[in-house]
Amino acid sequence: MPVRPFSKRLLSASQPPLQIRGGSIIGVIQNVNRKVCELPKKVRTCEISIDPTAQKEHNTARMKTPVTVTVTGAAGNIAYSLLFRIAAGNMLGEDQPIVLKLLEITPCLDKLHGVVMELDDCAFPLVQEIVATDDPAVAFKDANWCMLVGSVPRKAGMERKDLLSINGKVFIGQGKAIAENAAPDCKVFVVGNPCNTNCLIALHNATGLPKQNFFAMTMLDELRAKSQLAAKAGVPVSAVTNMTIWGNHSSTQYPDFTNAKINGKPVTEVISDTDWLKGEFIKTVQQRGAAIIQARGASSAASAANAALMTVKNLVTPTAQGDWFSVASYSDGTRYGLPEGIICSQPTRTNADGSHTIVEGLPIDDFSRGKIDASCKELLEERAEVLG
Ligand SMILES: NC(=O)c1ccc[n+]([C@@H]2O[C@H](COP(=O)([O-])OP(=O)(O)OC[C@H]3O[C@@H](n4cnc5c(N)ncnc54)[C@H](O)[C@@H]3O)[C@@H](O)[C@H]2O)c1
Repeated sequence: MPVRPFSKRLLSASQPPLQIRGGSIIGVIQNVNRKVCELPKKVRTCEISIDPTAQKEHNTARMKTPVTVTVTGAAGNIAYSLLFRIAAGNMLGEDQPIVLKLLEITPCLDKLHGVVMELDDCAFPLVQEIVATDDPAVAFKDANWCMLVGSVPRKAGMERKDLLSINGKVFIGQGKAIAENAAPDCKVFVVGNPCNTNCLIALHNATGLPKQNFFAMTMLDELRAKSQLAAKAGVPVSAVTNMTIWGNHSSTQYPDFTNAKINGKPVTEVISDTDWLKGEFIKTVQQRGAAIIQARGASSAASAANAALMTVKNLVTPTAQGDWFSVASYSDGTRYGLPEGIICSQPTRTNADGSHTIVEGLPIDDFSRGKIDASCKELLEERAEVLG
């Protein structure tokens, strides 16, 4: 057995799993990054051997090329729930090594440093490298996934227009930095509000990147809608499928109960209270964000992080037969009467080759038509404010 000095280097993500035996046996490290033994200070050397099971696990993780995930707003509330789950493999898979690149504004770099310290302290086996920076060119370098979470929050007295204008500048810069630095096939996923229009701004400035690689988050709305329907029907939430959020991630969004299913049956066959579906259900989903702010004194963070994670997971995993999920993506004007050139939430499937398609041919009744059109009108107004 080789005998080497124990050093922190041995505990880095690039090292294989080790068993450590000191002058006395101090413990077994099944995988150095999952369970790190405290070494008594007097132990200077230790005997190292490879645990075969842990080695196999480690090798599997090492075989895949690392994916670079950039997260902006990395010292913020959503990121604080999101980063640890990405690092644990909950988003891209437990065998997918990752490089994390974290972007913040300069005044928040100290706070970000604290987050990085905590990430270090988790010793996640999949994390190959962590880069924390206030420079978008560094943060987006070689990024495969650009998760744009950071944006300036709306403050009292601020009009939606003011918010669009302030954040517009951020997403112009980030769109350009992504085009110049990220992988040419990178995916851009916007969470920071107003997410649909921020995404459109990034798309317009990320010259050369395919439009179909831009997404904005409406998964939180989908999950809220599923949860409300499940509670009303008295079924587990997993029984609710085929839930579409149409339009904007705002109070005009339309959670489409007419095409959703509960245990494979149309929702309208299971829930006979049509007034509730057309009234309270839609309003609850549309206003849920505001209700959480009122109850918690802060906007949804853990559930937003969960929804961000679920969106990317859905976009990298083939969708179950017959089902779909909601994400806002570029509308080319050919489906469901949605205007061309907006980032609009639509029913989406991920194919076996990793591409995504919009589900075609869903029936849209007059009630749904009115709701979808109203949300698209708002998206067109937002577009006019930022793009002229
Ligand atoms: N789409 C959705 O469903 C959904 C749901 C919830 C929240 N959100 C939005 O997500 C965003 C983040 O929410 P949060 O609770 O984490 O907010 P937060 O204020 O806690 O964190 C935002 C972070 O972004 C950083 N930031 C601001 N400008 C930046 C820039 N130019 N580059 C990098 N970082 C920057 C801030 O310094 C801050 O740390 C907000 O816009 C919020 O409205 C969206």
